[in-house]
Amino acid sequence: MTTTPVPTITLNNGVEIPQLGFGVFQIPPAETKDATAKALEVGYRHIDTAEMYGNEEGVGQAVRASGIPREELFVTSKLNNGFHAPEDALAAFEVTLGTLDIDYVDLFLIHWPLPNVGDFVETWKAMEHMYEGGKVRAIGVSNFQPHHLNRLMAETTVIPAVNQIEIHPYLTQDALRAFDREHEIATEAWSPIAQGKVLTDPVVERIARRVEQSPAQVVLRWHIQRGDIVFPKSVTAERVEENFDLFGFELGDADMSDLSSLNKDERTGPDPDHFNYIPE
Ligand SMILES: NC(=O)c1ccc[n+]([C@@H]2O[C@H](COP(=O)([O-])OP(=O)(O)OC[C@H]3O[C@@H](n4cnc5c(N)ncnc54)[C@H](OP(=O)(O)O)[C@@H]3O)[C@@H](O)[C@H]2O)c1
Repeated sequence: MTTTPVPTITLNNGVEIPQLGFGVFQIPPAETKDATAKALEVGYRHIDTAEMYGNEEGVGQAVRASGIPREELFVTSKLNNGFHAPEDALAAFEVTLGTLDIDYVDLFLIHWPLPNVGDFVETWKAMEHMYEGGKVRAIGVSNFQPHHLNRLMAETTVIPAVNQIEIHPYLTQDALRAFDREHEIATEAWSPIAQGKVLTDPVVERIARRVEQSPAQVVLRWHIQRGDIVFPKSVTAERVEENFDLFGFELGDADMSDLSSLNKDERTGPDPDHFNYIPE
């Protein structure tokens, strides 16, 4: 088994999270066990799934079949949008544990704040209850803006360990990242290569040619050097390997700032302030 070169980040409750993981959004359930097994074989030790992705079962199967000691792995899942009512949230968490078929998750997140649908403060209180129960090592949020986080911090006890948000060179999110940092909330970057859209940018291509790495490696390395946590998704074996191979080169200050200058506040996913989707 490969020894992982991936650095860890210490969350605000002392739990360590590998800075690079493997995301499984849009991997069909029937392919998820094999895709996750490939990632674990390459050396990834952090998997990011969600009840909404419908593939927790495959993640759990790969984790259990891997033979890797559970304490060496970091598994994140997320509370789906239809389960914000506190009693529903508690039940959904148990279902997630059962579907993954593991004793605990390392991180559990509120997937979306759903500003017009539920009451995320009450949902967060249920998350605190789960945390006290000991079957989740850290709790956090996803797609929360500063005003959502300010409400949580004013009205509840546990400060979220992470905020998982969309970030890539076309959406650098510097203000929200600074807010997270100020409150000791670790930032996780979802869609770190904008689902491939940033890879053909001339600036990314130019830097990639010069440093003799692929465009994806350049963009993922930019995230790593900014200090965010990333988990690119791929079902292509060579890309899974390529995306893990980020620790043999460094980007200089000029390259870092050229990549950051690509920002145009362009989302590939929904705007959290207006997204109130509840799956059927
Ligand atoms: N919290 C949230 O609301 C939220 C939302 C979205 C995503 N996420 C998380 O973030 C993870 C990553 O985001 P994402 O899956 O949306 O997008 P992503 O990782 O930015 O991009 C994935 C896409 O890029 C392709 N790709 C991957 N590596 C590549 C490479 N080296 N060269 C060229 N193309 C490459 C993949 O193709 P193939 O698979 O065909 O190789 C796939 O089409 C998700 O899996 C999920 O865990 C969270």
